[in-house]
Amino acid sequence: MRVEFVAFPKAFAGNVAVLVAADKQLLATAQALDGETGKAVTRAIGASRFTGAKNQTLTVLGQSGDIARLMLLGIGKPAELDARTCESLGGLVCADANAAGQKAATVVVDAPKGSTLSAGVIAAHVALGAQLRSYRFDKYKTKQKPEQKPSLARLTIAVADPAEAKAAYAEVEPTIDAVFLARDLVSEPPNVLYPAEFAQRARALTKLGVKVEILGEAEMKKLGMGALLGVGQGSVRESQLVIMRWMNGRKTQKPIALIGKGVCFDTGGISIKPAGGMEDMKWDMAGAGAVYGAMHLLAGRKARANVIGICAIVENMPDGNAQRPGDVVTTMSGQTVEVINTDAEGRLILCDAMWYVQEKYKPQAMVELSTLTGAIIVALGHERAGLFSNDTLLSNKLRAAGAMVGEKLWRMPLGPKYDKLIDSEIADMRNVGGGRDGGSITAAQFLQRFVQDGVAWAHLDIAGMAWSGKGDNTTPKGATAFGVRLLDRLVEDNYEK
Ligand code: BES
Ligand code: MN
Ligand code: ZN
Repeated sequence: MRVEFVAFPKAFAGNVAVLVAADKQLLATAQALDGETGKAVTRAIGASRFTGAKNQTLTVLGQSGDIARLMLLGIGKPAELDARTCESLGGLVCADANAAGQKAATVVVDAPKGSTLSAGVIAAHVALGAQLRSYRFDKYKTKQKPEQKPSLARLTIAVADPAEAKAAYAEVEPTIDAVFLARDLVSEPPNVLYPAEFAQRARALTKLGVKVEILGEAEMKKLGMGALLGVGQGSVRESQLVIMRWMNGRKTQKPIALIGKGVCFDTGGISIKPAGGMEDMKWDMAGAGAVYGAMHLLAGRKARANVIGICAIVENMPDGNAQRPGDVVTTMSGQTVEVINTDAEGRLILCDAMWYVQEKYKPQAMVELSTLTGAIIVALGHERAGLFSNDTLLSNKLRAAGAMVGEKLWRMPLGPKYDKLIDSEIADMRNVGGGRDGGSITAAQFLQRFVQDGVAWAHLDIAGMAWSGKGDNTTPKGATAFGVRLLDRLVEDNYEK
């Protein structure tokens, strides 16, 4: 979809959206159109429940001159208008135009009196939201009829200062590619996206100036990554460790490490999962997808920071050579793990990736993302990812970044009594707690045993957020790329100078 920013034309035509603030306050263009049409806008509002509340819309058909469809976009109270709401409105315009089979749409962005956002910034985020909503993963559909394909090809944003809007859009535009690439990875079927293929796609970041290094099983064996290798042992696909370095910050800045769980397919291994819904486990690499997307975005906008992305990429399969429940593996840290349940594989690959990045790059902070536990979905549903951390400052930074981009987090507890639940009779720890109780917390406790002194660490359990069954205003159903924008924003707001 093409986006353009233009100055206000003399007259509007076609498929047009205008802004209305809370309590039916028509912004300038809505008001002018209302006057020109003998109060058609006011009448339409009067015949509906539309008040201009945030994210409310009302589409008026065939009312005025050359305007075939007039969409009213509720912005709520101008003083409370934020970038996220603008994105959401852009997404609504995109969806509405596609549903109506429209090829083009115009959004008129009048400056709302009392808003802290300039019209240019509003315009840029409306465009961003429309783009994010326009994502499709239809490469395997060979029989789509024209009416099944999205129709909206051109979005025009009319704004008083198009140059300002263009500049604001240029700042957010790298987000689109990064989010789309991450969604692509997560959407790909598991026969296509296996570990080496993931690594291959990550290698493309080299073009943006990211240093990409890929370790195979022989190298990981030398490093002593027994836990990671144990998970991949039953797969015919070679496990990979993908290390992406974007070092564009001050020489003296200790890097931020971003770590992702990349299980390209999780059958559960010998502790095999039930058949129903098992296909979902193709997106068990969404944490790695988010880290990859974030690295793409940081490099795409040339962030002034030192960031290392590290993804542990494996396939968890049952096989004659697969690891067994009861096996004891030695992690790179030297600590041993009794593998009670081969389906608790995420923590086994992450612990070696975490140890590696700490040993090699001495990061000041380490943020790891994983679709780690079904239990976090029981706790938080599909509204927030679970946040576990040893550092309140880092937790607050993450929560603030998430709030800005609409990727919400909820802090969960850690503590010695939970930690005790993963003690083993024959090894240093077991990979699951005694029962299902507190399953997300015991998983996090396991990871915390691999955090070195002085490192600020956060684990985001994104199992409920990686895939959306119903979609939202800026995300179609399917892969969300949750985490890409959050990580980028975390770096932008805290580690760039
Ligand atoms: N990848 C799953 C977690 C998951 C479940 C993500 C559902 C998304 C949706 C993870 O590897 C797993 O299997 N976890 C087990 C842990 C258990 C064996 C302690 C779980 O949650 O059941
Ligand atoms: Mn599993
Ligand atoms: Zn898994």
